[in-house]
Amino acid sequence: MKTAYSSYAALDVLHDLQKPRTEVSAEMSFMVTTQVMELLFGLLAHEWVQARQALREDDLTGATAALRRGLHVQDVLVTSWDLLATMTPTEYGAFREQLGEASGFQSSAYRRLEYLLGNKAPKFDLPELTEPSLYDETLALLHRRGIPVPASHLERDFAQPYEPHPDVEKAWRVVYESRPDLVQLAELLMDVAGRVTLWRQRHYASVRRVMGGKPGTGGTSGLTWLRRAVDRDSFPELWSVRDTL
Ligand code: HEM
Repeated sequence: MKTAYSSYAALDVLHDLQKPRTEVSAEMSFMVTTQVMELLFGLLAHEWVQARQALREDDLTGATAALRRGLHVQDVLVTSWDLLATMTPTEYGAFREQLGEASGFQSSAYRRLEYLLGNKAPKFDLPELTEPSLYDETLALLHRRGIPVPASHLERDFAQPYEPHPDVEKAWRVVYESRPDLVQLAELLMDVAGRVTLWRQRHYASVRRVMGGKPGTGGTSGLTWLRRAVDRDSFPELWSVRDTL
C-alpha cells in the first residue's frame, strides 16, 4: 500500500535493495550491515562537510554542533559491528566467493570520510582529495585567531598526505595552556579521532573472528593491512602534544 510515509522514505526502493547472492541466511545480515554503514558514512560526511564549512567561516558554534551530531553517527557506526557478531566463519565462507573482488576498500563514501579527516591516498580520485580536510581548516582557524601555524601547512597541496610538524604541535600546546576558547574544539576533534579508531578496531576484530588471517577480497594481506589502519592516528599533533603537556 502506498502511504505518505512509504513515499517519503522511498520504502519500495529501500526494501528492494537487499539481493543476497546465496541461500546462506547470514548473507542477509552482512548485506544489510554493509548498506546501513554505507548510509551512515554518507550522513557522517554530510555533518563533516558542514563542520568544515563552519570552520572556514570562523563559526565555531556551527562547527561544534555539526561535529557533535557526527559523534552520534560515529557511535552508531561503531555499535553496528554487533550485527555481524553472530556470523560464524563457516557461514561467511559459504557466501564469500560470491563477493568476488568486492571489498569495503572500494567504498567511495568511506574514502570521502578518510579524505575529510586528512588521510589522503592520491589513488582514489574524489573531489575531497584536493580539498582541505577538517584538520586543515582547523589549523587555518587557529592561525586566524593568533596562534601561528607554519605557512607550509596552511598553503599545502591538499591532495598530498598530511605530514606532522613540530610547530603545529607547538600551536596545540598554546591552545591547551592558554586558549580556553579553543580547547573545546581540540577535545571534540579528539572525540572524533577516538571513534574513528574504535570503528577500525571493531572492523579488525570482526574480520579476525570471521576469517582469521586470510587475504582480503580486495587484494590486501587482510589483518596485517587492517592493523596498519588501526594504528594510524587522525590529527597527529593532537596526539603527540600529549607527550609534552
Ligand atoms: C565481517 C565481514 C568483513 C570482512 C571479513 C571484511 C574484511 C575486510 C578486509 C580484509 C579489508 C582490507 C581490504 C581487502 O583486502 O579487502 C577490508 C576493508 C574495508 N572494509 Fe571490510 N570486512 C567486513 C565487513 C565490512 C563491513 C560490514 C563494512 C561496511 C561498509 C566494511 C567496510 C570496509 C572498508 C570501508 C574498508 C577499507 C578500510 C580502509 O581503507 O582503511 N567491511 N575489509
